[in-house]
Amino acid sequence: MDSVTPSVLITSVLNPNMRIFDVVMRTEYGTSYNSYAVIGSEKIALVDSSHLTFCEAYFDHLDAALAGRVPDYLVMNHTEPDHSGTVAALVERYPDIIIVISQAGAIYLKNITNRADLKLQIVKDGDSLDLGGKTLHFMIAPFLHWPDTMFTWLPEEKVVFTCDFLGAHYCEPQLFDSKVTYREAYVGAVKNYFDCIFGPFKGYVLKGLDRLATIDPQFVCTSHGPILTAGVEYQRNLERYRQWATVEPCANKRIPVFYCSAYGNTERLASHVARGLLRGLPSAEVTCYDLNQHDLSELAAALNDSDAFLLGSPTINRDALPPVWNLLACVDAVAIAKRPVALFGSYGWSGEAIPHLTNRLTDLKAAVFADALRVQFTPTADDLAAAEKLGEDFARSLPAGCC
Ligand code: FEO
Repeated sequence: MDSVTPSVLITSVLNPNMRIFDVVMRTEYGTSYNSYAVIGSEKIALVDSSHLTFCEAYFDHLDAALAGRVPDYLVMNHTEPDHSGTVAALVERYPDIIIVISQAGAIYLKNITNRADLKLQIVKDGDSLDLGGKTLHFMIAPFLHWPDTMFTWLPEEKVVFTCDFLGAHYCEPQLFDSKVTYREAYVGAVKNYFDCIFGPFKGYVLKGLDRLATIDPQFVCTSHGPILTAGVEYQRNLERYRQWATVEPCANKRIPVFYCSAYGNTERLASHVARGLLRGLPSAEVTCYDLNQHDLSELAAALNDSDAFLLGSPTINRDALPPVWNLLACVDAVAIAKRPVALFGSYGWSGEAIPHLTNRLTDLKAAVFADALRVQFTPTADDLAAAEKLGEDFARSLPAGCC
């Protein structure tokens, strides 16, 4: 039986073949659904659960860890279904199990399991649970990355369970960071995970790091990827997270121009919009992105890190094109509020892309620039001048400082 310490047993399931997580997140290196069993002299607590698809493997690992013992508690640090998918089955197995969970998590778990008979013990920040010689201390850590998240600290073993925080969609047969074979790939997976999962919550990330600074773990048991060890990747991941979550005051506004183009017309508008942007704000960092030429996670990071952005789409089937909608599916709905955005695009017959995108971005509470540019078929010299004027006017409309 794999274990972190003699009292913390590993019941994780590996999924090396996963390539897409949560429909939109690419995962080149698979993942693991990590879970644990903490053995006290009086009580046993499971920490986190597993994905429903891997229920059978999870129960096999659980049986091996428990060796006939019955768990008293299930600590749910976070209720997203990759960790809560097996809870309903777990409750069938162990009807008396008490689920230890945050207030927000309790609401979610009831609706995820659709069970009214869950035995819930709702904990607050600072609460603890004695298992007999092993004590679980609960640290509420909201928005890392759901409102329900908490960390669980086991001081007697110097182990902290952080669920998604500091994790990675990365899978090797060995379960510890010290055994990682492809370290560069692992670090890339940590970055990808941060960008996709925690990028929208940078302020909360910094608070989470501050909470971890109040304890001194030897092992950090995340819910995905290798278990972190003090002196190996733990401190490095702390530093990485702090660097990635710290928004430097920037001298230059980042204004990406995203577009897709069927026949090159919207692309030409994009390049003239970019030229106008730089005329209006010479210090701006302006990058044009053809949506079909870049990885979606790269595009999403550029959008979410921007101070303002422009979006260009042709109209096909009376709508914007799928790559444009895919990008908007990745926006950080929290941070995009009030973000300035301007729209442009070439169309053939009716040009619905711009009004549809305007509606969507308005729903997202972005600050949509009123003067969108629509051009029928091939842009004329006047249209290209209008594209430059759009970029210049948009740049001049931006508030001083970074957004
Ligand atoms: Fe791994 Fe947010 O679930």
